[in-house]
Amino acid sequence: MTFETQPLNTGVGLEILGLDLSRPIPEATRRDLYDAWLDAGILLFRGLGTSPERQLALSRCFGELDIHPVESVRIEGRPEIIRLANRGNVDPIVHYLDDQEIAGLIPWHTDMIYMTRPCRGALLRMIETPGQLGQTGWIDTVAAYDALSEEMKQRIQGLEVRFDFVLDICDMRFGRPENLRHGTMGTVEFGEIPPVVHPMVWDHPESGHKALMLSPVHLIEVVGMDRAEADPLLEELVAHSTEERFQYIHEWEVDDMVLWDNWRTLHMAAGTVLGTDREVQRTSISGDYEMGRLL
Ligand code: SIN
Repeated sequence: MTFETQPLNTGVGLEILGLDLSRPIPEATRRDLYDAWLDAGILLFRGLGTSPERQLALSRCFGELDIHPVESVRIEGRPEIIRLANRGNVDPIVHYLDDQEIAGLIPWHTDMIYMTRPCRGALLRMIETPGQLGQTGWIDTVAAYDALSEEMKQRIQGLEVRFDFVLDICDMRFGRPENLRHGTMGTVEFGEIPPVVHPMVWDHPESGHKALMLSPVHLIEVVGMDRAEADPLLEELVAHSTEERFQYIHEWEVDDMVLWDNWRTLHMAAGTVLGTDREVQRTSISGDYEMGRLL
């Protein structure tokens, strides 16, 4: 192998050490990186994201890249990279955490779980850190599933859950931070997105692992189960899967990159104090496996 790996501080995810991105990535290295990604779900590349070219070269090791439908968020000349920045955003979505105004807060979720074909993964590159807050966190839902009791595994096997596109995180039904309050919602229109159903436990199509996929931001109900029975079950499972022992929270430095497997992780963005600047650039790896269906 042309790189080393080291478990991240919480034991969730791996740091990749000694990888050379200054020259094309050999096929054998690409395969080793892919295997590490399948094995760990979250890979950290500290300080290696020094250019969009390096971000693209690394991202392409893991599959085809999506082109974001909204042209204004793409960076010039590199349509596979989108810019997520609060500098110059005159219309941000803002929430209060206690008395602090926070922009860009997104609690635990899986990307595009409200679609039938969620993306395969994504890679973030840090461009500008905000000074305070701005962390991104990940949860390994394979570890969360493995830690369930055998009785609970039996109970949830075969259940399906409904996910909606929930724009305002104050409308989350499960796992809503206790100190969260409404701020302003911006004016961007997202249109109608119909509810989607996914299995509660995914059989990862490549690794074969079982993952407990509950995306708390979007989670609505268990299909075909009375809410009086289903809600306490979902509350228990969300509390379990978001326990600290399954998390890795990254304190960003400029040029860090983190890659995640969206088919086995949750992630969250801590957001920034309104008025502070932060920028990350992101590539998304296409998903070709249709796990969900429209309700
Ligand atoms: C994302 O979910 O793509 C962005 C996360 C972040 O900005 O920390």
